Amino acid sequence: MNAPHASPGSGGSRYHATYARWQADPEAYWLDIAKGIDWIRPPQKAFDAQAGIYGRWFPDASCNTCFNALDRHVRDGRGEQTALIHDSPVTGAKARYTYAQMLEEVATLAAVLQDLGVAKGDRVLIYMPMVPEAAFAMLACARIGAVHSVVFGGFAAKELATRIEDAQPKVILTATCGVEPSRIVEYKPLLDGAIGMAAHKPQACVVLQRPQAEASMTAGRDKNWRMLVAAAKAAGRRAECVEVAATDPLYILYTSGTTGRPKGVVRDNGGHMVVLKATMDQLFDVKPGEVMFCASDVGWVVGHGYIVYAPLIQGATSVLYEGKPVGTPDPGAFWRVIAEHGVKVLFTAPTAFRAIRKEDPEGKHLAGHDLSRFRALFLAGERADPETLKWAEDLLKVPVIDHWWQTESGSPIVGNPLGLGILPVKYGSPTVPLPGWDVECLDEGGRQVAPGTMGAIAIKLPLPPGALSTLWQDDERFQQAYLETYPGYYNTSDAGFIDADGYVFIMGRTDDIINVAGHRLSTGGMEEVLAAHPAVAECAVVGIHDALKGEQPCGFVVLKAGVTQSPVEIEKELVALVRERIGPVAAFKLALTVARLPKTRSGKILRATMKKIADGQDYAVPATIEDASVLGEIGEALKGRGIG
Ligand code: COA
Ligand code: AMP
Repeated sequence: MNAPHASPGSGGSRYHATYARWQADPEAYWLDIAKGIDWIRPPQKAFDAQAGIYGRWFPDASCNTCFNALDRHVRDGRGEQTALIHDSPVTGAKARYTYAQMLEEVATLAAVLQDLGVAKGDRVLIYMPMVPEAAFAMLACARIGAVHSVVFGGFAAKELATRIEDAQPKVILTATCGVEPSRIVEYKPLLDGAIGMAAHKPQACVVLQRPQAEASMTAGRDKNWRMLVAAAKAAGRRAECVEVAATDPLYILYTSGTTGRPKGVVRDNGGHMVVLKATMDQLFDVKPGEVMFCASDVGWVVGHGYIVYAPLIQGATSVLYEGKPVGTPDPGAFWRVIAEHGVKVLFTAPTAFRAIRKEDPEGKHLAGHDLSRFRALFLAGERADPETLKWAEDLLKVPVIDHWWQTESGSPIVGNPLGLGILPVKYGSPTVPLPGWDVECLDEGGRQVAPGTMGAIAIKLPLPPGALSTLWQDDERFQQAYLETYPGYYNTSDAGFIDADGYVFIMGRTDDIINVAGHRLSTGGMEEVLAAHPAVAECAVVGIHDALKGEQPCGFVVLKAGVTQSPVEIEKELVALVRERIGPVAAFKLALTVARLPKTRSGKILRATMKKIADGQDYAVPATIEDASVLGEIGEALKGRGIG
């Protein structure tokens, strides 16, 4: 086990002592943090190494996550404190809910779900825009022990269908539309299309009618959200919290895998609460009553954790923002929200700051906004490029904290622990492993490499509380995807290095996942879509550098012999096809017809070399290449589009 070394200037931080305390006795460490949670049956034991695939956390405890997020704060006198602020520049709406009001909304919606036949263990799919009802829906499921699966609004019908098929929800909660600055995204046609495609059919769909788009309802199946809630309130219906085992699933969140079939990450109730509480104290330093603004979407893990669950479990106030960093209405949008709601901590993706910087390089839009309560900016979701990070530091004059995690981890793995006392910053590194995470850098044979040497970033088992326990109904895929490569470790599929001070540097993925504007996407999934076009013989999608979004997908296609349709037309159809099958979030705008793809003699497509050519980087011609002249053809094709 590696202990990060004390680094110069870290004397005032409690980080090293805390990490050492966890290393010395993980059982006692986690049981101590677990005291911050209200259990129904408190844990006597933190970890059972014999249970589950790599062990299970809090195996003898029972609890309810919604009780911890709402009821206990009302019980303890926080009923009149604001729990949630909805701020929606795209619709002009603003609303505040106190803990007492939110409890009322959630308990009522939970009763509505029960009336629709939803019980403990049933799945409920949530396909919602950034409205307060999305948070109510998640908590209502948690309240009755149902397992939610939130699907991001930027995914298309087919992606939604795959998730319906896998999670088999009894009920789907949705709204009539999402509001993007440039257009209204009607959800109902996407949902109807998805249900049409999926073999599994939900018993009911509860639809929140938004004024921006009315939707027609399918008789018998679709219910009007507001009418159901109003009727339940009139009848005084409220659901009480249902006792669940700490190890019972709270949610399934689908994330890109290496094929078009997403992975259903399973999160439990007890460990999740404990780790979120730990990160609010140790990393984010947000205390009860303080305001956190996580500018993500409830459809991503960041939104699950830090828009909904963590701030509420902590008794803080959360801002749920329906807008963008720029254009709603200008690059001062975040500063306005911070000033208006007294935000202490902002959490977003680096791409948002690249967008702000591009439009307002001198930070003129900061003028006139009172940021006196603002204490720190947290960035995650993709590599934080040092230039953007320094720009944000200079502008905001607060610590800017890069931290690294994944949908699978459920909470930050590596970060600079503001709550324990900040450590010296090394630009390009999210800093050090948080207590609970034993992070190592391995060579291909699974041996630890020397400090500063690139390798695969892996985590020594067991994973801490809150990390995925398995993939939904697919233990075998969980084993094979994460645990088989390096026995005894979880393979993060990120590459990087750890320096002599124990600072971790994350440099990129080792699989075919790319990161577009902080959104995780599978190039394999996009290749499946391109290959489905009748004119395409073979294809390869690679993530190429993009100054704003970090990466953008670029699809190279070889057409079938005898195709008479013009390549320009086919390329347009391919762009439309990815948008239709995966969704606008894939941001697939670049399809390039080429005569051949570069391959090794054994037929492997040289995607990494193609990426280097597109990014204008030096590359070595692989010794195993079948025909090196193909690389020149790829370079020419890219130059034709002004790339490389
Ligand atoms: N529902 C429907 N469509 C959505 C959507 C949603 N919830 N979110 C995004 N889209 C659409 C966008 O409208 C865009 O469509 P377009 O091709 O018609 O323009 C497309 O998906 C791509 O979206 P995005 O990559 O987000 O680009 P953008 O140009 O709309 O915005 C940024 C660029 C940088 C402002 C934006 O990506 C951003 O704010 N990023 C923050 C990152 C983030 O929240 N990451 C989550 C993990 S922390
Ligand atoms: P997601 O599961 O969508 O949260 O995406 C996780 C992936 O995003 C990680 O495996 C990394 O590749 C990347 N990522 C997230 N945060 C960071 C970060 N701070 N630095 C570098 N890469 C990051």
